Amino acid sequence: MNGFPKGFLWGAATAAHQVEGNNVNSDLWVLENVKPTLFVERSGDACDHYNRYPEDIRILAGLGLNTYRFSIEWARIEPEAGSFATTELDHYRRMLAACHENSVTPMVTFYHFTSPRWFASMGGWEHKSAGDAFVRYCERVTEHFGDLITIAATFNEPNLPMLIRWAMGKNLPLHVILGMAQQAAQVVGSNCFGSFFLGNPERVRDAMIAAHHRASAALKSGRGKYPVGVTIAMQGEQAIGLESKRDQKCAEVYGPWLAAAAASDFAGVQTYSRSRVGPHGDLPPEPGIELTQMGYEFWPEALEQTIRYAYEETDVPIYVTENGISTEDDARRIDYIDKALAGVRKCLADGIDVRGYIHWSLLDNFEWLEGYRPKFGLVAINRETQQRTIKPSARHLGEIARRNGI
Ligand code: BGC
Repeated sequence: MNGFPKGFLWGAATAAHQVEGNNVNSDLWVLENVKPTLFVERSGDACDHYNRYPEDIRILAGLGLNTYRFSIEWARIEPEAGSFATTELDHYRRMLAACHENSVTPMVTFYHFTSPRWFASMGGWEHKSAGDAFVRYCERVTEHFGDLITIAATFNEPNLPMLIRWAMGKNLPLHVILGMAQQAAQVVGSNCFGSFFLGNPERVRDAMIAAHHRASAALKSGRGKYPVGVTIAMQGEQAIGLESKRDQKCAEVYGPWLAAAAASDFAGVQTYSRSRVGPHGDLPPEPGIELTQMGYEFWPEALEQTIRYAYEETDVPIYVTENGISTEDDARRIDYIDKALAGVRKCLADGIDVRGYIHWSLLDNFEWLEGYRPKFGLVAINRETQQRTIKPSARHLGEIARRNGI
């Protein structure tokens, strides 16, 4: 039995800042453009998806995929606190309409790492009215185009700061981070700059969990009746040695957000690799294992493990909302997809309620601090001409989607 359940969602994902281009009103745009900065290059025009989304959605649908996961950009929709841009709300309404016209299910992320500049200048998630601001934005959005949303996530990987703390530990380049934040504060004319990545991970987490629950309630009482969940960054955690801190890591990094997902309509699992945890925390990759462009181990089997773990902890439907590999060798992507999907099949065979597989990413895009070097896309982008080229892996995944089976 290699089939998938009827109605299974097959898709690809993007995030606004990584693909739209010129997201000038966002906090990360500021951070990319100050000195010192942790970003190796600027996002600039990105994939010009802001203008080219009709073509990109057509490509996705043409491949045989039935779901597009994308984020809407708060910094565009609410360029100044409390002032909403109707033209931008209309823009995303058109994007949703384009999905429906192509028989593509839109899965909308309300927040994918970026905030408006004004939000950063007030201190970001650590400011006492941060949650109010986020809820107000969610209410306004769902009033404008909630009727066209099919499924939504409040936050993308809100647990990432915690995960980074385990992964980087003492290697965080604190002086650059501090210099960058100070410069950014100056640019926005404030004495602080609170970006999602820069704050105190515990305080940011607590504020975002509360905001997630309030925003979900607001979305559900608004226009449109769609399931609302949250997506979580998850690695296949492996304990090395009897003194391994693996369980402590899981409790810190995943525990609170899995609990939040358990009280939501679904959990989004986002997995790229495994991580080995020893007595002092994360260990480097195991010698001899193939590494991806990001330096992660090629470990597609991690997905099966994280789905099982997420389902055990939450008992709500699971969507794989991100899974992928950064590589110039598209044949490795095909192999990765096949192995990851074999794991999804095993989960389904064991009765786990997995409802979709959404690959990261539709396009080769702006990989945050790493810039444009890592290639996660099913579709390549010529950075000069913005021309799109479909890779064999895209056709491969599309075939699986059409067949609804491996
Ligand atoms: C994020 C994406 C990112 C991807 C690959 C996830 O952490 O949601 O924005 O590009 O992983 O690193």
